[in-house]
Amino acid sequence: MSLIDEIKARLDIVEIIGESVPLRRSGKNYIGFCPFHHNVRTPAFVVFPDTQTWRCFGACNTGGDIFQFVMRRDGLTFAEALRALAQRAGIPLEPKTPEAEARERERARLREVLEAAALFYQHQLRQTPEAEPARAYLAARGITPETIERFGLGYSPSAWHALIDYMLRRGFSMEELQAAGLVVIREDGTAFDRFRGRLMIPIRDPQGHVIGFGARALGGEEPKYLNSPQTLLFDKSAVLFALDLARAEIRRTGIAVIVEGYFDAIMAHQAGFANVVAALGTSLSEAQLRLLSRGLKRLVLALDADPAGMHAVLRGLASAREAFPETTLELGPRGLIHLSGQLGVDLRVLTLPEGVDPDELIRRDPPAWARAVEGARPVIAFLLDYLAAQHRLEDPKGKAAFVREIVPILAAIPDPVERDVYIQHAARMARLNERVLLEQVTSYRMSGQERRARKGPAALLSPSSEKPGKGPEAFGSGTEAEATLLVMLGLGPDLLPYLNVRFAELGLEPLSEEDFLDSTHRALFRNLTEFGSVEDWPEEEMEPQRAGPLLRTLWMELLQRRGPLLRGFDPEDERWAEEALRLALWLREQRLKEILEDLQALAESVPDWPQDEFMAKWQALAEELNQAQRFRYRRWMMDDPLSTTARR
Ligand code: UTP
Ligand code: MN
Repeated sequence: MSLIDEIKARLDIVEIIGESVPLRRSGKNYIGFCPFHHNVRTPAFVVFPDTQTWRCFGACNTGGDIFQFVMRRDGLTFAEALRALAQRAGIPLEPKTPEAEARERERARLREVLEAAALFYQHQLRQTPEAEPARAYLAARGITPETIERFGLGYSPSAWHALIDYMLRRGFSMEELQAAGLVVIREDGTAFDRFRGRLMIPIRDPQGHVIGFGARALGGEEPKYLNSPQTLLFDKSAVLFALDLARAEIRRTGIAVIVEGYFDAIMAHQAGFANVVAALGTSLSEAQLRLLSRGLKRLVLALDADPAGMHAVLRGLASAREAFPETTLELGPRGLIHLSGQLGVDLRVLTLPEGVDPDELIRRDPPAWARAVEGARPVIAFLLDYLAAQHRLEDPKGKAAFVREIVPILAAIPDPVERDVYIQHAARMARLNERVLLEQVTSYRMSGQERRARKGPAALLSPSSEKPGKGPEAFGSGTEAEATLLVMLGLGPDLLPYLNVRFAELGLEPLSEEDFLDSTHRALFRNLTEFGSVEDWPEEEMEPQRAGPLLRTLWMELLQRRGPLLRGFDPEDERWAEEALRLALWLREQRLKEILEDLQALAESVPDWPQDEFMAKWQALAEELNQAQRFRYRRWMMDDPLSTTARR
């Protein structure tokens, strides 16, 4: 029995959920008000003791087992939930490796160092006469004392050793100060404070721990902002400033706004726009987007209208013609579209008039900011306009250049209807025959698929089955099928976006962790969506929101168990991609069937369950199920690439 099964066997889901949600018995099941969304009318939250699962049939429409419940209720990572529930079940967990423990200790110590330094800077800002210009500066920028507190703003004295002297007295070592990025060591080995005479802005991780600083010059010194160097805790390209303060609001609304500067974010929060984070001037990285990805519905990028700012975000345009998908860290527009499709996020772009910062606009006219966010344009429409403005479309050369740039972008749009609409739109912009553009986009897409197929092996069989390609049974049933798909996804990180594009084409929601029944599988799937390749999973268990080493080990176990079934697996091969699609569809079918069954049981056992709501939900689910099944059967019967190869 796996650790997870053992925990589940020892704990009673009704008891655990019952601790925080009043439940009443209804037939075999228990029912109550969902703790994850506001509802007082109809109890739509059901606990099923038979299967030890729960599900909300109301607004949030999620469900799972005891792990998912505790993770959501207490905001825990999978690893944390596992630890908590194992302890409750009285099952000792294996101790961590000495190396992992040592690293965790070092990180914990660095956090202490940074926390102490932040307090020192805060104290300086509040108390010292030297900080008067800094206080005046903040006041002149309209920053209130509450905001200063909230963000923990501070001041670094201009002396060379102010922080060093204080920290050494507090018992920290020079090595620790250096590891935290707070000092600079000269060639001769002597050290001085890195930040001097500046306004100090603590940068925090999503849990609110200080991991570095941004330090603004108060006069005209260069650089305007001096930032912490890369440290064990701080990686500028993977951090979103103010995310710790914005998390709750982003989760509540499903909308996040990304601005470029510290003060843009600070001012937004001061004015009550609590879903704003800052990317700190770099072009957006995938790591940053992934920090936000969970539960995000819409992402608004607030860009500087000046060409430099625009280019920062559009960087990578030149590489847009390169192979699908983008693997670079910095996202070009194509990467953004691709990733937003993968994450199921509606990506929008907000442009402000040239020379206007979000900071200034929010300060002057908060409702105007709200309107600008509301009116942010879908990224594709924005890109088309932007690129059209870059080229002289009356000129044949300019027109051709425009087309070259937009074709990869149009081809990256997963939804076929949306793609069509934009192709029409772009053709009108360029005064180009729509068919011509459509052909270009289609052939671009085809060449991408050919690239996949050509790389594949000549022969392809799923070894354990007599009838290869005749369905997921070949890959094991139930949670074994889940495991197989996960192994495929782990071995081929491009597979997931591919599947989601295909799902979108079928009118299905993107593959989600809900499609997996097993808790471990869900956690693995989440890591795959958040970090891509298994090699890219975090090294540390302590990283925000994530479990690296534990899940890596679990993935390796799966690989060993399911690997033999996947002999010859090549994620680049079209036919294996089809195989993965079949498996994914089958999982979706199972999930939908299960929900439909639960729904039926519920309707029978709950007298006050509203009929209309029930029917609407039932129909929507049945329709989706129907769609998934029809497609899977059609693929088996007619154009099945695997079975034709096998027959040959
Ligand atoms: P901007 O130069 O647009 O500054 O840099 P800003 O945010 O409007 O700054 P204020 O309003 O004059 O204070 C945008 C962001 O780029 C990063 C910072 O995160 C800054 O907020 N940046 C800029 C640096 O890291 N270093 C610099 O020297 C300049
Ligand atoms: Mn500014």
